[in-house]
Amino acid sequence: MAEWNTMVGTDLEMAASWLRKGEIVAIPTETVYGLAANGMDDNAVRRIFAAKNRPFFNPLILHIADSSWVDRLASDFPEKARKLAGELWPGPLTMVLPKKPVVSDLVTAGHDTVAIRVPGHLLTVELIQLLDFPLAAPSANPFGYLSPTTAQHVLKLLDGKLPYILDGGACEIGVESTIISFADKQARILRYGGVPVEQIEDLIGPVLPPFTDQEGPLLAPGMMKSHYAPRKKLYFGNIENMISAHHLDRSRVGILSFSKPYADIPADHQIVLSLQGDLEAAANGLFHALHELDDMQVQVILAEEFPNEQLGLAINDRLRRAASPR
Ligand code: TXA
Ligand code: MG
Repeated sequence: MAEWNTMVGTDLEMAASWLRKGEIVAIPTETVYGLAANGMDDNAVRRIFAAKNRPFFNPLILHIADSSWVDRLASDFPEKARKLAGELWPGPLTMVLPKKPVVSDLVTAGHDTVAIRVPGHLLTVELIQLLDFPLAAPSANPFGYLSPTTAQHVLKLLDGKLPYILDGGACEIGVESTIISFADKQARILRYGGVPVEQIEDLIGPVLPPFTDQEGPLLAPGMMKSHYAPRKKLYFGNIENMISAHHLDRSRVGILSFSKPYADIPADHQIVLSLQGDLEAAANGLFHALHELDDMQVQVILAEEFPNEQLGLAINDRLRRAASPR
């Protein structure tokens, strides 16, 4: 049953007034669309979990308008984190820092750290500037499903579950933020994302890689093995090998590839993300392509493995989780 007649628009005052009333609003960011609420109001934050069907053990990111907010939320802002904030915010980078008591356990899922970022989308920064609280916001998709990179994706996924979608056009980056934790002595990447790890290491030196799936569930909250998944079965790896291993009918597979189409597969069942072989362009089209393939008349989706560097690391992470059994 629809709770709301969901509106889509660019009215900042409208978005701000719903948020001040404790309701949820979808917001554009440069990575993916977020499902936002007042991060200092537990009742508002609970509505996010309800609309997404998200388990409470999965903590949320607080979105702020500029780094002057960090000291209100975090008890420590180490030198290296400051450096990254100075160079990369606003932008697709989330930092996990020790939290201050003012940040609720609902937001952090009971952890003693808080995830914070300054999003790189003008409309959303202006929106936060109209408010006197940070916005808690996960991606605006039902829990476990593909992330939304347009207002239309959000409407398709969450129509009736929220009063307003702030439409900021298609997301510029197209994959979620890189998450880096400063909770322990040595900085560690928790999730590959929009800022390449190579760029982070150029700025602050070596960082630890994400936990493996075996260590992950306890140490990196919310990094579920199965995630970002289409409804259709998705296989990830070498396309020709997967076709023969699973005895697939070439006329009934949908293909997601980096830079080249495959022979003997209908052209309209294939999405090539960047004919130029550009990883940024590929990341940008990733979720849009997966939404399209999920809605296409094909039986299964086959996704190629991308180069394991730069944004290819974020793309492969999303595809591996999309392929993981539910
Ligand atoms: O690009 C993004 O980061 C988007 C946009 C909307 O900002 N947001 C996003 O949120 O991807 P979400 O909830 O889908 O993923 C955030 C992840 C959580 O799944 C969890 O793994 C991690 O952030 N996280 C949040 N708080 C954390 C904490 N205190 N410690 C460790 N990880 C945390
Ligand atoms: Mg998400």
